[in-house]
Amino acid sequence: MTETTEVYSAHLPGFQETAFIKGHEEYQALHKRSLEDPDAFWAEQAEKYLSWQQKWEHVLEYDFPQGKISWFGGAKLNATYNCLDRHIDTIGEKTAYFWEGDDPNQSLSLTYKELYQKVNKAAAALKAKGLKKGDRVVIYMPMVPELAIAMLACARLGVIHSIVFGGFSAESLANRINDCGAKMVITADGSFRSGKTIPLKNAVDAALPNCPEVENVLVLDRCGLGLTLGENESWWHEVMADPDLPDYVEPEPMDAEDPLFILYTSGSTGKPKGVVHTHGGYLLYAAMTTRITFDLKDDEVFWCTADIGWITGHTYLVYGPLINGLTGLIFEGVPSYPGFDRFWQVVEKYQVSKFYTAPTVIRSVAKEGAAMVDKYDLSSLRLLGTVGEPINPEAWRWYYEHVGKSRCPIVDTWWQTETGGHMMTPLPGVHELKPGSCAQPFFGVDPVIIDPDTGEPARYPNQEGVLCIRKPWPGMARTVFGDHKRFIETYFSQVPGMYFTGDGAKYDEDGYFWIIGRIDDVINVSGHRLGTAEIESALVAHRDVAEAAVVGFPHPVKGQGIYAFVTLNTGVGKTDEIKKELVKMVRSEIGPVATPDVIQWADALPKTRSGKILRRMLQKIAAGDIKEMGDTTTIADPSVLEQLIKERVASTA
Ligand code: WT7
Repeated sequence: MTETTEVYSAHLPGFQETAFIKGHEEYQALHKRSLEDPDAFWAEQAEKYLSWQQKWEHVLEYDFPQGKISWFGGAKLNATYNCLDRHIDTIGEKTAYFWEGDDPNQSLSLTYKELYQKVNKAAAALKAKGLKKGDRVVIYMPMVPELAIAMLACARLGVIHSIVFGGFSAESLANRINDCGAKMVITADGSFRSGKTIPLKNAVDAALPNCPEVENVLVLDRCGLGLTLGENESWWHEVMADPDLPDYVEPEPMDAEDPLFILYTSGSTGKPKGVVHTHGGYLLYAAMTTRITFDLKDDEVFWCTADIGWITGHTYLVYGPLINGLTGLIFEGVPSYPGFDRFWQVVEKYQVSKFYTAPTVIRSVAKEGAAMVDKYDLSSLRLLGTVGEPINPEAWRWYYEHVGKSRCPIVDTWWQTETGGHMMTPLPGVHELKPGSCAQPFFGVDPVIIDPDTGEPARYPNQEGVLCIRKPWPGMARTVFGDHKRFIETYFSQVPGMYFTGDGAKYDEDGYFWIIGRIDDVINVSGHRLGTAEIESALVAHRDVAEAAVVGFPHPVKGQGIYAFVTLNTGVGKTDEIKKELVKMVRSEIGPVATPDVIQWADALPKTRSGKILRRMLQKIAAGDIKEMGDTTTIADPSVLEQLIKERVASTA
């Protein structure tokens, strides 16, 4: 990340007077209070943002070394009561969602009342299938309103949902279903993407023979593929039309600390972890960050472009906006279909006020030229957001100038699946904007840069280190499903007494934070987090592969691309055929999201004398940064490295 000294004013038109947080002084005072007296601060927020059936006994109780965190212990509430029931009398006729299809001719909208009715029906249907509090349901669906309805139906019953992004393969789906012991899978026949049909149900069919605990499958007819359903499988529309289903299902009173959902995310080792979020703390944090970061007013349309299958979609498309009674936009399509102007056409069509997307999206549309943006009236936009990876200043400037017309602040929100909501971000009307910096912590967040050599906090600005968080915040994950030990090991063991983020970062002279990127073997491809170990194990599953090492490399659009060094078994020819098979292998083991961009044959991998793969060197080779290989004295056989460099150079010659 190139550093810049550019600074853009915090006081863009409109924000100074109307923002929820008025200026840096107010921010500082509130932030200070949130850290000094978290109990009082968060109790106040909890009263403000949520409706509780029963109040808490304690606000915060925690023990980081044991990975124990509890917010609002003893309190009772239900997510869907907060998202829907309590709004019906006041804003029942307000649009909860606009939905825009992949096909520009398909769209609809749902009022709060309509959403409430559908969620009740769906909850009744799930209940009729025998689902009850604490059971798990895996949802594997396209970006249609039914996806949000299915989530909320689960939440109403206290059933824990686990959404698996549609870009994951049958194998990944099966792993997740089994890991959480799901009793039901909700899916669709297919999904539309860029006008093409992707057969989702096929993946479910391939997964289920390996998933003995699944009792029922519910299938939405999204694409009219005319599938014949098997035993214990039913069509969504038929089930929902059952006249015997009640119109109302009592929302299950949930303890604040009861799990709301599980979401799988990749780490540096092993299989993906099922991160668990709760009803109480998570919902509060989702609600407050949605309101404050985006400075959302009741009459605004909020468009978060993330898929609901990722945490961003959970928090900023579903729970955050609905708790606040806002109008959200669910978009099924992609930025490039039918043309690269699709996003801006949608912004104009729905008069979107606040727009939240990923740097990779900005880069992919920016390369098509500003004319694609300029032809639309984007005067409804008041604020822009980014998330998922560090944004390069060029992309930031393009976004600021061409989309925001130099009058919309950009909130660069740093957070993670595990944090539930924004952890660091500029706040509109409060922070000056520095392209590439996520500015300062949100309320209740106490970040610190730890020097990896000493384990002590950084002593001066611009000293790079590991980003850790010193105190709990309500939205943080509570455990890894079924593996609390792994939760402790991953997040609370590296730096004792702190939450370990896995990101390298620093702060500057103004106390602004800059995220440098992951320090572990996790790569960030188009804002999607992938473990290199997962991809390597998919590659070595091929019969001809002896060994594989995967690293990230700088990619102009995706942020990071996937570069695989593969050693074949002795005597196997290095053919393009095998490369194709390897790509196929990864796609079927993990999913298209993990498709390698480059595969380089390696007669051997550079290793230390103790056999450890020298990843830093492979990263340099992948990046084409071969002039300075750094310290090569630890390498067991230097000729291995020379050979790889030679072949890398030859491949680009
Ligand atoms: C990792 C978390 C949080 C939702 C999307 C990704 C990187 C995220 C930023 C940002 C720099 C960022 C970090 C983080 N990241 N946002 N604004 N600036 N880096 O969630 O899949 O859990 O990935 O994404 O490396 O650790 P995730």
